[in-house]
Amino acid sequence: MPDIMTPFGLAIDLETGDMVAATNRLVRRASDMRGYYADAEALDRLIQEQDDPLHYEVFELPVPPENGQLMYCISKLQPGQVGQEFFMTKGHYHSVSATAEIYLCLAGRGYMVMKTAEGKWATEEMMRGRMVYVPPHWAHRSVNTDANETLVSFCVYPGDAGHNYGDIEREGLGKRVFQRGGDIVLE
Ligand code: F6R
Ligand code: ZN
Repeated sequence: MPDIMTPFGLAIDLETGDMVAATNRLVRRASDMRGYYADAEALDRLIQEQDDPLHYEVFELPVPPENGQLMYCISKLQPGQVGQEFFMTKGHYHSVSATAEIYLCLAGRGYMVMKTAEGKWATEEMMRGRMVYVPPHWAHRSVNTDANETLVSFCVYPGDAGHNYGDIEREGLGKRVFQRGGDIVLE
């Protein structure tokens, strides 16, 4: 007989995304984002002048990283720009590439930028109450396009999916999101 896990529940504040029961808090600061933005000098200035500000956080109360489990987390991406490029997450494929993910946006505004290894790309708007389905084999990155608000999402994905950052670090996501003269532009 397999070990049978005990069911559980926990509270998530649907306005702020606060998940008090979380035991893991992954923190990415501006200095963790070297190599990701188009304007590397602007990132260096941000790190120096603003004392390496918080970029994003991921909160989890993890379940076993196994097939059949559903991992879930809260992702909070700060507002801001590196030069004219909006703050974004690193982005990744899942290590088990054939695994999907659901993002439910709880607060803020932005985009999910996605691409496949074959070079197809897609974007979906993120805003409070909107869900984005990231199908299997699509790398994904969230981008915060709001001037002030944190982009908060609840994410659910297979427990054994894992994260492959290296490919996106090398190849990028295909499209970047900039503020150009008051417009939000994908280039
Ligand atoms: C999990 C997932 C999200 C991200 C989070 C941070 O598979 O897609 O929880 O992990 O938004 O982004 P990354 O992991 O790209 O730094
Ligand atoms: Zn993911």
